[in-house]
Amino acid sequence: MDSKNDFALITGASLGIGKEIAKELSRLQINTLLIALDSPELKDTEKFIAENYGTRVDSLGVDLTDPNSANRIYDWCKKNNYNVNILINNAGFGEGGAFEDIPLERYCQMIDLNNKAYIAMTHRFLPDMKRLGKSHIMNTSSMEATLPLPYKAVYTGTKNFIYAYSLALNEEVRRFGVKISILCPGPVLTNEGGLKRIQSQGAKAKLIVMMPDEVARVAVKHMLKGMLIINPGKMNWWVTKVSKLIPTRLKMRIMERIFRVYTKEEKNTGH
Ligand SMILES: NC(=O)c1ccc[n+]([C@@H]2O[C@H](COP(=O)([O-])OP(=O)(O)OC[C@H]3O[C@@H](n4cnc5c(N)ncnc54)[C@H](OP(=O)(O)O)[C@@H]3O)[C@@H](O)[C@H]2O)c1
Repeated sequence: MDSKNDFALITGASLGIGKEIAKELSRLQINTLLIALDSPELKDTEKFIAENYGTRVDSLGVDLTDPNSANRIYDWCKKNNYNVNILINNAGFGEGGAFEDIPLERYCQMIDLNNKAYIAMTHRFLPDMKRLGKSHIMNTSSMEATLPLPYKAVYTGTKNFIYAYSLALNEEVRRFGVKISILCPGPVLTNEGGLKRIQSQGAKAKLIVMMPDEVARVAVKHMLKGMLIINPGKMNWWVTKVSKLIPTRLKMRIMERIFRVYTKEEKNTGH
């Protein structure tokens, strides 16, 4: 990083994968701007980075589902003279269950955070990044982008959207020196929900589960090399490749049987 005013901006940086990405960038002496909901965890992450890496770090608590959030973040960067040459759109959430058991409002929030916020942030920051040249955008998608999960249909859809959208946008912007990477993790042990989900799927899930710091290390390394699609973990890489060889209908039948554990009936019968 040439300038002391150059920063990587990470959304969802208070917890999980985003927090570990912020730490990994700091370890590589890259300044960071941390975005998440206003919370003690966000301040704790900022404090941890400030005390351990000697890089510049700042944070802003903002709800990314607010339609004006990207403008607020951009104005905050301008006011403080922060040049964002790495943008990591990572904040997101998912929920599993029979389609109609999850309230419509929850699905709309998911689309606001997992899709609309990614677009709004890129729309705001991209013109400056094109002017700067040599910049990176990494969008956190999921292994589920290419391997759709029954009982998580809307989440899977949001991740598939990010995958296709990033592939297309990358071709538009790469000649200006902006490289887009798509991060496609498999299951990562980040929060209580994830832990329960992995436990409910038994031994097969444990084979592909990763810790957030491992994902962050692979993600940052490959993003800085300009890799387009990042599949962390050897096992996940193989699952993604092999799944493309299985006929779609058969693959989806198998997936439905595995992920039926998300439904209330299965939870009640303990299957
Ligand atoms: N964990 C997995 O197994 C897995 C697998 C594949 C892909 N992913 C994707 O990886 C990304 C990170 O997942 P994670 O498991 O690390 O999540 P996480 O531990 O739940 O952390 C989510 C982060 O997003 C922030 N956030 C949530 N709602 C927000 C909002 N409305 N406005 C601003 N920030 C908000 C959270 O801040 P607060 O705590 O303050 O809410 C937190 O910093 C997501 O896009 C997820 O879909 C996860």
